[in-house]
Amino acid sequence: MRELVSVEHAGGGLTTRSVGEQRVAVVAGIAGHVPEQVLTNGDLITRFDTSDEWIRSRTGIGERRVARPGEATSDLAVQAGSAALASVAAIEPIDLVILATSTPDHPCPATAPAVAARLGLKGVAAFDVGAVCSGFVYGLAVAQGMIAGGVVKSALLIGADVFSTILNPADRSTNAVFGDGAGAMVLRAGESDELGAVHAIDLGSDGDLADLITVRAGGSREPTAEHGADRWFSMQGQAVYRHAVLRMTESSRKVLAAKGWRPDDVDRLVAHQANARILATVGAELGVAPNRVYSNISTVGNTVAASIPLALADAHAQGQLAAGDRLLLTAFGGGATWGSVTLTWPHLR
Ligand code: UT7
Repeated sequence: MRELVSVEHAGGGLTTRSVGEQRVAVVAGIAGHVPEQVLTNGDLITRFDTSDEWIRSRTGIGERRVARPGEATSDLAVQAGSAALASVAAIEPIDLVILATSTPDHPCPATAPAVAARLGLKGVAAFDVGAVCSGFVYGLAVAQGMIAGGVVKSALLIGADVFSTILNPADRSTNAVFGDGAGAMVLRAGESDELGAVHAIDLGSDGDLADLITVRAGGSREPTAEHGADRWFSMQGQAVYRHAVLRMTESSRKVLAAKGWRPDDVDRLVAHQANARILATVGAELGVAPNRVYSNISTVGNTVAASIPLALADAHAQGQLAAGDRLLLTAFGGGATWGSVTLTWPHLR
């Protein structure tokens, strides 16, 4: 006897599924949103001892967007989420909202329920995922697991961060790198051989590296009020750089092997936009041709959890993703955390 794993309404009737017919998350919509205010390298020169040449040559960034005072992560997340939902051809009820962020509106509660309510999704499951720059890949893995497990049939996955609120105003290094933004993806249950299906996933972490990327104060270990400079984000750039290249490369190799793709099968490498030199090195280490390594870092900077969905949304809007393209996503972030995903790109509006 075949074991039933879920019962669902399909076209007005009842459909039973059995073990062996694998349901997976399938991409159904994508959109990004960045704040209006542009912060150029020229603007940074007025605040720091830096230069356009240094920033461009070390990071590949020419400008980034920053939220206006009072504009919070949820505001960007709602804009991206709303646009992603509007991009779906035949909109299905959304069962789950996941918000990947490390700059929630408040330390408590999570921001996802407020985002869900503002999107007209009051009542659905909603929670935040905190994996810093790997947050979107972690969120995608969670959505995939919940869809495959039959817990939900659809999900809105948003990556959003407003890092401008936690950057140390005296730190020229991090102010040159980070920008604010949001990206959102709609996922629905589908079959593993469909265009848009999420395939192999690899996730990892190393808590011994927690100090490399941190905001020390504001949690239970060091309440904010007692620690001045510790309230700001700090990053050990060079060490992060080395670990990012190593982990994104290793993790990418694992998902490529799991999917049975060679590096030249990858049509687009859409990596976390950490630094243009990191993207180029990871592409070269993997053997993915430079013209297949997508980057929008020059105009948005490193937008943390928003980075991958924003890159996907920009690439899609620019016509740089075709239906059937084989995509490799990979990220490294605070924690330390890292992860990679393979998927095919669907037909999208
Ligand atoms: O998104 C999560 C993961 N994050 C990343 O992957 C970021 C990884 N790291 C990086 O992208 C780079 O390490 C940075 C862009 C953050 C820094 O670039 P770097 O080439 O590693 O510079 P560095 O930290 O080694 O600093 C080299 C020099 C230092 O001066 P001294 O000590 O040699 O005199 C810095 O003070 O560059 C200086 N510097 C700057 N100079 C001009 C640092 N920031 C700046 C700046 N303008 N904005």
